[in-house]
Amino acid sequence: MEYHVCNLSDLEERKPYVVEIDGQEIGVILVKGEVLAFKNHCPHAGGPLCLGEVYPGIKVELGEDQRMIREYVSEDDLRIVCPWHGLEFNIYTRECVANKRFKIEGYETEIKEGKVFVNLKQQEVRKDEPAKHSG
Ligand code: FES
Repeated sequence: MEYHVCNLSDLEERKPYVVEIDGQEIGVILVKGEVLAFKNHCPHAGGPLCLGEVYPGIKVELGEDQRMIREYVSEDDLRIVCPWHGLEFNIYTRECVANKRFKIEGYETEIKEGKVFVNLKQQEVRKDEPAKHSG
């Protein structure tokens, strides 16, 4: 079932916005014109994941000799950080950066006429591609 959770104008880029649907807390996040939705529940120990911040990961470029050439900020590797113990989750693959057995639950979203809708049916993603969502 699809729920109207907020208006697009309520959202700030990369600032999770937590709503309650059917007694369940969901965080919606505006990223580059798209809206992602996650269960506000960290798979590590149940922390309020969507009260955390979203920021780009730091990548390391290695040379042929495996020595570091440079570090850089990757806008393609956006992460949400759980406020309880600091685990980071890639917002597209939804996997924990440090331990891939932890994965956050995500939901399909849709933007219609400036309104954001979330479908509580759990969304599947492949490991190698960003989550699909419309809008
Ligand atoms: S509960 Fe989220 S990192 Fe521990």
